[in-house]
Amino acid sequence: MQFARVVAQILFIQCFITTCLGFGFLAPVGVALGGIAASAICRFKECCSEHAIHADFDGLEVALKKHIYGQHLVLDIVTNALRSHWDDTHEPQKALTLSFHGWPGSGKNYVTKFIIENMYKYGSKSKFVHHFIGRMHFPNSDKVSEYQENLHQWIKGNTTNCGKQLFIFDEIDKMPPKILNIIKPMIDYRDDVDGVDYRGCIFIFLSNTGADLINEHFLEIWKEDGVMREDLKLEDFEPLITKGAFNEEGGFHHSDTIKSNLIDHYVPFLPMERRHVRLCILDEFKQRNVTNPREEYVNEAMAFIEWGPSREKLFSTTGCKRISQKVGTIVTKYKLNK
Ligand SMILES: *[C@@H]1O[C@H](CO)[C@@H](O)[C@H](O)[C@H]1NC(C)=O
Ligand SMILES: *[C@@H]1O[C@H](CO)[C@@H](O)[C@H](O)[C@H]1NC(C)=O
Repeated sequence: MQFARVVAQILFIQCFITTCLGFGFLAPVGVALGGIAASAICRFKECCSEHAIHADFDGLEVALKKHIYGQHLVLDIVTNALRSHWDDTHEPQKALTLSFHGWPGSGKNYVTKFIIENMYKYGSKSKFVHHFIGRMHFPNSDKVSEYQENLHQWIKGNTTNCGKQLFIFDEIDKMPPKILNIIKPMIDYRDDVDGVDYRGCIFIFLSNTGADLINEHFLEIWKEDGVMREDLKLEDFEPLITKGAFNEEGGFHHSDTIKSNLIDHYVPFLPMERRHVRLCILDEFKQRNVTNPREEYVNEAMAFIEWGPSREKLFSTTGCKRISQKVGTIVTKYKLNK
């Protein structure tokens, strides 16, 4: 371990200068060297520091603009909410809570991936990033109190070590109800819960709940002449989502969290139309170094998509999910990147 040797040397010099030689007036040098040693350690090891939590919001904004299609509301809300939460000029009043809603493949996980990558140097490997998946981590509805106890311990333990944690709860709608009630005190307006300050933390909830309402509403508006997708505003959706999340089964079912308005932003992911799916396909080709794929290849990828609702056939029922694999197959089959 190279850095262990460096640290040992620095500690040795520090000891030599401050104690062994008895030059008390050189103590500040020792302290300074100690500081250098600490920051040297944090170059190799993940510390609760700006080096590891680099919070690159400009990078996030660019990445979302480049790779997320047809989601102007998402682009409006997400980066700004995160940026202002960690703004140095004022302390947040509570932990930031974002709730993402939409059909599968509309980009909820994709956006989350960019958030993780741009905020934490070590991305999804960061010890400050926690990803809980409904069916995987909370499969058993008889074990709610056990899950709650674990969650409480983990969130508390991690936040005690570092105040800038990111907790992601995926598949909220597939979680037994009530589990999430345990986090309520941690996302509330309190600067201290049993000696721990949770206000720097970020919680992101992902679910399909409310998606049918979003899509129906979108369809209604689409049928009215002259209203463009890009004209849709957040206010059009927020009440629908709270209603949907509240009435459907799953983690937020009759939940205290929603009742007491502790979710800061409901973020609706709109269903993907043909033009957006097309952009996803082109992006996937580009990521494989195929910049101008022939129309027949694009169409071949499009042919895998199912369209709904049954009458209008306007949206991809799976959004841009699995497009990556389809494009990968096409690129290999026709040797397009050779
Ligand atoms: C931090 O969270 C993880 C789960 O993501 C858990 O396994 C670990 O025990 C927690 N650490 C502390 C100190 O509670
Ligand atoms: C794309 O091209 C770049 C540079 O030409 C290369 O470094 C990269 O590995 C290529 N990516 C793929 C997926 O082939």
